[in-house]
Amino acid sequence: MLEGKRINLRLAEKEDVPLLVQWLNDVEFAGDYQHFPDQLSKAELEKRILEHKLYQIEWVDFIIEKKDGNKIGWACHYISAPNFGWTEIGYAIIKSERNKGYGTEAVQMLVDYLFLTREIIRVQAVINTQDAASRRVLEKSRFKKEGKLRKALWASKGKWTDAHIYSILRKEWKEPNMLTKQKD
Ligand SMILES: CC(C)(COP(=O)(O)OP(=O)(O)OC[C@H]1O[C@@H](n2cnc3c(N)ncnc32)[C@H](O)[C@@H]1OP(=O)(O)O)[C@@H](O)C(=O)NCCC(=O)NCCS
Repeated sequence: MLEGKRINLRLAEKEDVPLLVQWLNDVEFAGDYQHFPDQLSKAELEKRILEHKLYQIEWVDFIIEKKDGNKIGWACHYISAPNFGWTEIGYAIIKSERNKGYGTEAVQMLVDYLFLTREIIRVQAVINTQDAASRRVLEKSRFKKEGKLRKALWASKGKWTDAHIYSILRKEWKEPNMLTKQKD
């Protein structure tokens, strides 16, 4: 588990599958802007969580918990190929807990964790161009906007929309400031 200041990121387990299936298929949880491509079946999600793999991509899901154990969101990272491809993150917070800083803390914890444990030089995120909250989270986490991806996301409103790609480079990442402790 990754321990932060106000939240923990706990690796998703088999017991979390029903909640994650509900969240990740829920338009309100995903928001109006997130890429919302295929509906996820329980079996597909369980496979991804247990094997840390989706197709040929390493994919790791976390449950975001407050210190009292309340589950308030989900975060993930996916890595296409070590030392070759890209490392990307995704995240969402339940509606009632948004705008309290948890999304930013989760992103910064993921960045700390990835730079501390992987031989990578960049972490990226792809967001809907209209997603102001996500843009703010990335800016607060020192990501830089690189450019526009045209019609790259299929958002929950059923339309292909443009996306912005953001990244933070290892040389721009100063030092871990969110992780307080890592343990199994
Ligand atoms: C994006 C998301 C994770 C942010 O989580 P969060 O816990 O609310 O994030 P934070 O509280 O750390 O920061 C949100 C920031 O966005 C700002 N914000 C929120 N809605 C906004 C809007 N409509 N316009 C402009 N800024 C907005 C907040 O004011 C805050 O900035 P501030 O600290 O400068 O005041 C959350 O909105 C969410 O789950 N959205 C749906 C899923 C999604 O879009 N995920 C991202 C794609 S991978």
